[in-house]
This record gives sequence, structure tokens and C-alpha cells, in this order.
Amino acid sequence: MSPDQFRELGRRMVDWIADYMERVESLLVLSRATPGEVGAALPAAAPERGEPWDAIFGDLERIIVPGLTHWQSPNFFAYFPCNASGPGILGELLSAGLNVNGMMWATSPAATELETRMLDWMARAMALPEKFVSTSANGGGCIQGTASESTLIAMIAARARAGPGADLVAYASAHAHSSIVKAAMILGIARGPEDRERVRLIEVDGSYRTRPEALEGAIRADLEAGRTPFFVCATVGTTSTTSVDPLDEIGGVLARAGLAGRTWLHVDAAHAGPAMLCEEFRWMFRGVEHADSVCMNPHKWMLTNFDCDLFWTSDREALVSALSITPEYLRNAASESGAVIDYRDWQIPLGRRFRALKLWFVLRHYGLEGLRAHLREHVRLAAMLERWVAADARFELAAPRTLNLVCFRLRGEGAGAEDANRRLMEALNASGRMYLTHTVLNGRTVLRVAIGASGTQERHVADAWGLIQRTAGEVLGA
Ligand SMILES: Cc1ncc(COP(=O)(O)O)c(C=O)c1O
Repeated sequence: MSPDQFRELGRRMVDWIADYMERVESLLVLSRATPGEVGAALPAAAPERGEPWDAIFGDLERIIVPGLTHWQSPNFFAYFPCNASGPGILGELLSAGLNVNGMMWATSPAATELETRMLDWMARAMALPEKFVSTSANGGGCIQGTASESTLIAMIAARARAGPGADLVAYASAHAHSSIVKAAMILGIARGPEDRERVRLIEVDGSYRTRPEALEGAIRADLEAGRTPFFVCATVGTTSTTSVDPLDEIGGVLARAGLAGRTWLHVDAAHAGPAMLCEEFRWMFRGVEHADSVCMNPHKWMLTNFDCDLFWTSDREALVSALSITPEYLRNAASESGAVIDYRDWQIPLGRRFRALKLWFVLRHYGLEGLRAHLREHVRLAAMLERWVAADARFELAAPRTLNLVCFRLRGEGAGAEDANRRLMEALNASGRMYLTHTVLNGRTVLRVAIGASGTQERHVADAWGLIQRTAGEVLGA
């Protein structure tokens, strides 16, 4: 493809994306594709000869768009959001255009140094302790693909710090994300998702937060049995309800057990992290100074395209010692000088994308004030929905709201109520007008409305609530 042809097709593609942004609201949020349908519309083998781009654009509309669930729809309220934005997309485009591999400083100094600066910008914007900033004695941050990868590398560093031969035990709340157990599975700490021999999922309180006394009891029992508590994950903004584990009390538990600075405390703030840009939400990070690592996802709720997870540690030595291996072909003067960061030593793969560009563009385009306004608006909309739910006697709120997630259900106990809530969710999602997902709290199905898609405004939440009310009437009347 010549630069001129790229220019022409690039403009066409950017137009296509801009049109998509305009029409995404009118598309059915959840794809109605049946299993195998998209695959069946594609040839079984790659074309022998190059094809015209008209055909490719045609198939994009004909085959791909109907098979999409539109995460960028303002009517997307499922899971947690996965944000895109104009500056984020442009950053992705530029990253693809440059296509550098920033595995080491020497392989693209700008990729490394921009990333280091972005992590420092964000650490300061979120008021993280100075020990996580790159100029501190032993700290710094980098971009990982996902929060799951951050948890895994935190656990790897924790294991390295614990040293060989120890009988390791990891702890997280019963409401922690499944990626914690998955990391334990990858590292051989757990033999499967249900193996609790060396993974403790700690009981939560009535607001779904880790109970520090339960954590303390579990840690003491393990210490008495000669085991080594090597890793604790605290969650700020759990997946089911956005509950917030008490970081300061967890830090206190570790200190009382003589484990401060030994057991690795990782804070998973995948979704809620961006809210730390706003002073009024920073109570959630009270005690974060006890942490050895923190992660949060701008790709969830900070207008930065997937994938972009920010990971900070105050013990980069432990991390690098666990992940650094230098074959002859990677040796270079800059690395050996010790004056540069080689991010290959902070992650699982060798190669790495230039993801800092999109974060740089997002931060410069919106500014911290713009991002704060965006976050606050979603929290305001969630509070509004919460009030509407509370005012409708057919519904009950099912968990305290901390940010932009509202958990609620149709009232009632037993199989009948379970059935009604499941049917309500299925009917709403089948409508194509909105998409929401569920969790189970105390054995009961609960609907989750996460207000965080890049384009969600008050009218979308109001329409969604109107649809929920009407559909509830149909489900209960049926
Ligand atoms: C609290 C929490 N941690 C981790 C994850 C996993 O995120 P990722 O897809 O970035 O691995 C999620 C996903 O929603 C989450 O809610």
C-alpha cells in the first residue's frame, strides 16, 4: 500500500469511525448473532489475491457490525465500561503508524520516557504517595495491558521477595476479581479455581468490604502453621458492587503481624482508580501508603482506549529481579549504564506497544479538569438512578453505591423473585435498547447498572430507567 493509497483509505476509515460514533446510539447494544454465524459468513481460507477495499468496507458493514456488542454505545451499562474517545483513538492510530517496539529504552527512548512521565503525571494527579513516582528510591510505574496482568506481576514480585522454599499463602476478599485466583493458578499457588489450600478468600462485611479481623485471623493461623503470607490483594471498587476494602486497616493487620514490608500488598483499583483524580473520592485510597503496588485502568473509565492499565510499585527491585533476563542479543550500552528503564523487565512479554501516546493525548486534550468533570457527571447520574430505584416500591437497592454503579433488584424472596429478576434482565438485554449484567449477592440475583460509557448522558440513564420500569411491569404482570 503506497502512502497515497493509505492517505485515501485512512481518511475513509476515519470517516467510517466518526460515522460509527454518530450512529452507535441507534444500534442494538447487544449483538443478536448466534454462535457460529459470523464465522460462517467468512471464507474458510485466506484469499490468494488481494481484494479491493470496497469489498472489505462492504464486509465490515455486512458481517462485522451485526456481530458487535457496542461497548461504545451510551446505552451500555454492563460489566464495567471500556472507554474510547477521539484522542484515545488518535493515540492508538499513531501508535500503529509508528509501530515501535519499546521493549527497552534503546529500542525507542521516547516510548520509555513518555511512559515514565505519564505514570508520574498520573501518580501525582491521583495523589499517590511519592514512593510510587519514578524519581523515588525504589518506585515507579508502567503500562500493562490489563489489571489481570498487573495482579500477576505483583504476585510474581511478591514471590520473589518472599524468597525460595517458603510455603506461600495469598489472601484477597471473597469479592476480589477472579484474576487474583487466576494469577495464583498461573504461579502454581493454586491448582485450580477452587483450590483454597494456599489461597484464602476472606469474608466480607455487610457492605462487601474485606473484614480486617477475618484477614488477621487467617494470617495468624497461617503463621502459626509455619506458612508464609506473601501476598494480599485489597480491592478498591470490587467488580460486583464497587465496594472498597479498608486499606489503612489492612495495613494495620500486616503491621501487627510483623509483616509490613514483607507481605506484598497489592491494591486493585481497576475500575475505581480514575476517581482518585477527584479529591472527594480519595477516601477510598486512605492507607494506600501501605501498598507495594497499585493498579488502575484508564481503559475502563478514563476515556483511554483499551488496552491501558497503569501499574505502580514502590519495590521495583523485587519486580525486576523476578522478571529480568538478559540474553546476549539484548545487551546494549544504555541498559548497562543503569541510567535507563527497560520496561521489558516489568512485564511478561518482551515486546511492548507504545501505549503511552494515547494516555498523553487524553490527558492533554481533556486536562485533569475535563476528566474530573466527566467522572463526576457519571457519579451524579448514578446517584440520580439510585434515587429513582429507591422511590419505586417494586425495587430495592442491593448494595451501597460508592461511585457509578447501582445494584438493585425486584423485591421478593425465593425462586419466584429469582426468576423475575432473571427474566427482567433477559428482556432488557433482548430489547437491544440497553445492556446490563448481574451479580449474585447473598444468594440473590442482583442487576448492575454501571454508568461509565464515554457517551452516556442523563437522557440515556433516564431512558434506561423508563425501560426498566416498563419491562418490570410486564415481567411482574405476566
Ligand atoms: C476490580 C477488578 N479487577 C480486575 C479486573 C480485570 O480487568 P482486566 O480486564 O483489565 O484484566 C476487573 C474487571 O472488571 C475488575 O473489576
